[in-house]
This record gives sequence, C-alpha cells and structure tokens, in this order.
Amino acid sequence: MSLLDVIKGRRSIRRFKKRDIPREYLEKIMEAARWAPSAGNLQSRKFLIVKNPQLKNEIANAAYRQSFIAEAPVVIVACADLERSALGYGERGRNLYCLFDVAAAVENMLLTIHELGLGACWVGAFDERLVSEILDIPSTLRPVTIVPLGYPAEKPSPPPRMSLEEAFNIID
Ligand SMILES: Cc1cc2nc3c(=O)[nH]c(=O)nc-3n(C[C@H](O)[C@H](O)[C@H](O)COP(=O)(O)O)c2cc1C
Repeated sequence: MSLLDVIKGRRSIRRFKKRDIPREYLEKIMEAARWAPSAGNLQSRKFLIVKNPQLKNEIANAAYRQSFIAEAPVVIVACADLERSALGYGERGRNLYCLFDVAAAVENMLLTIHELGLGACWVGAFDERLVSEILDIPSTLRPVTIVPLGYPAEKPSPPPRMSLEEAFNIID
C-alpha cells in the first residue's frame, strides 16, 4: 500500500472482534506515535494503554456512553503534557502546541493501525475530568483523545470529503 492508499483507506472503526492485539503490533503503533513531530521536539504527550475491562467500561461511560470503546481490546488515552510544553513555550505551549503534539502522534497511530489490518476511532467527545479521575491522571496531563482499537468487525464506506476547491485556496 502506498502512503496515500493508507491515508485514504483508513476509516473510523466502531465495531471490533473479540480478539487480542499481538504485542508486536502494539509496539509498532507506539513507535509510530513516538516519531511524530512535536514543537521544539519536546514531545509533550503521554499515552496510557488501557486493557482492563472495568476501566474500559468506565471510560466508555465517561465518553457519554459510547459503548464501542469498551468493546475494543485496547483503549489508548492520549494526553497532552501541559507543563512540559509550557516550560518551553509558555501559554502557547500549554494551550496549543501540546495539543498539536498529541494530534500528530494520534494520526500516526491511526495510519499504522490501518496499515496493520486493525481498526480504530479518534474519540474526542468525553468528560476530561471523569477520565482523569478514572485513570488517576495528574493535573499536569490533559487527556484529549481516546483511541479504541482492535480487529475491525465492520467495513464502513468512505464518508464524503470537501472538494479540493472548497478545501484549498491557491494564492499565486
Ligand atoms: C477531533 C475528533 C473528534 C472525534 N470524536 C469522535 C467521537 O467522539 N466519537 C466518534 O464516534 N467519532 C469521533 N471522531 C471520528 C469522526 O467522526 C470521523 O473521523 C469522521 O466522521 C470521518 O470519518 P473517517 O474517520 O472514517 O474518515 C472524531 C474525529 C476527530 C478528528
């Protein structure tokens, strides 16, 4: 698969088979996240990998009952390291760069997950305070994205995208 094939073929997957993910696959996914760009190479991000069924259930409830989260064998909670970014870049680091650091890593993970024949979904709708409580996340970290992943049990059609003309303005 070319990189563009991987990018275009990735879909949000919300149904998973009851099958574990091999350790070497998880390692590849973590490696892809580790090599994402970050502001000043500070890598102001931290990932919690949750396999515990009780915790996955609680996370799904904290995500406004998006129950598919609990059905994934692995749930990654991606956190922005606010203080690490603030040390380098002050308020812009705390409010913006660390979020980009996480987002870049999450996209790398999603593409690698798809390349491996697995599926995942970027979940942004959740109560951050509740998720922090459930996983005992310190206040210096802000959980910003949840990524449930596993073997896909569905094959969704690609949702439409804006045309190139809508999405881009070329300024000569
Ligand atoms: C910032 C962000 C937040 C999202 N939050 C959710 C979510 O809470 N629940 C969900 O099911 N999908 C969520 N999604 C997935 C989008 O619905 C999905 O990416 C979009 O519909 C396009 O479909 P595709 O990923 O298959 O291309 C989110 C995606 C992004 C980038």
